[in-house]
Amino acid sequence: MHGFPFSDLIDVDVLHRRIPTRISGRGLPILFLHGYPLDSRMWGPLVHLLASDYLCIAPDLRGFGRGPEQAMSFSMSQLADDCALLLDTLQIRQPVVVCGLSMGGYVAMQMAERHKHRIAAMILTNTRANADDPAAAKNRHAVALKALKEGGESVVLPMLNKLLSVHTQSHQPEVVELVRSMMLATCKSTIAWAQMAMAAREDFLARLSDWTMPVTCVAGSEDSIVPEQAMRQMAKELGGSELRVVANTAHMTPLECPAEFAEIVRKSTSTLL
Ligand code: MLT
Repeated sequence: MHGFPFSDLIDVDVLHRRIPTRISGRGLPILFLHGYPLDSRMWGPLVHLLASDYLCIAPDLRGFGRGPEQAMSFSMSQLADDCALLLDTLQIRQPVVVCGLSMGGYVAMQMAERHKHRIAAMILTNTRANADDPAAAKNRHAVALKALKEGGESVVLPMLNKLLSVHTQSHQPEVVELVRSMMLATCKSTIAWAQMAMAAREDFLARLSDWTMPVTCVAGSEDSIVPEQAMRQMAKELGGSELRVVANTAHMTPLECPAEFAEIVRKSTSTLL
């Protein structure tokens, strides 16, 4: 894997809080929102390919990465408001591209409704617009309890096989290590609060047809967490927005195949450059 191209984490002081953020490059701003239980490091190889033409901004969402050891409760809408405040603080006035993976996609969808004037285009990858059904929400509560009782490792490590494709696991050991290290760095209270927040997230499916900004959807051909069909349904509700399916990737498509993902970013933002 390429060396990590971002700046070191910068603490951006936003009102009374700090948001650890990695910033690199220059050009059209892209806000990268990581998934669960991960952090801004997941965007490194992709940013390496994009930083010549884009200002890449990747925060650690509340409690994740170098966030506090003891996370407080949060909601997807609060995470979206954090991101808008981050852009204010960085004095980024022009509308940005928001690229969210999975949980980062849930946050991006909140931004699309709460801060739509800030968004020029969206890229939603390995994510879904529908909320949890009661069984899924109940399971999240059980996962949150297990993390608190038995430690974060007990719930995150079994996810590894689902996050990465068979191909990635056998050909990219450095990606496997990075994902493992991000998961193990996530403290148990963040795991628990994130599960509760995701269980309570809104359903956007019926509202997507009201969105006016361009949205590109990207799926992993082997993603069992968000199967291609769920993303196809989302793209359809978005008025036939483009769906790209990246072969040999599972739930971490931008990290598993950054070259193809970078091409998708370039193509979907070409009219904005
Ligand atoms: C993620 O990758 O962010 C999670 O799989 C999202 C979820 O659990 O719904």
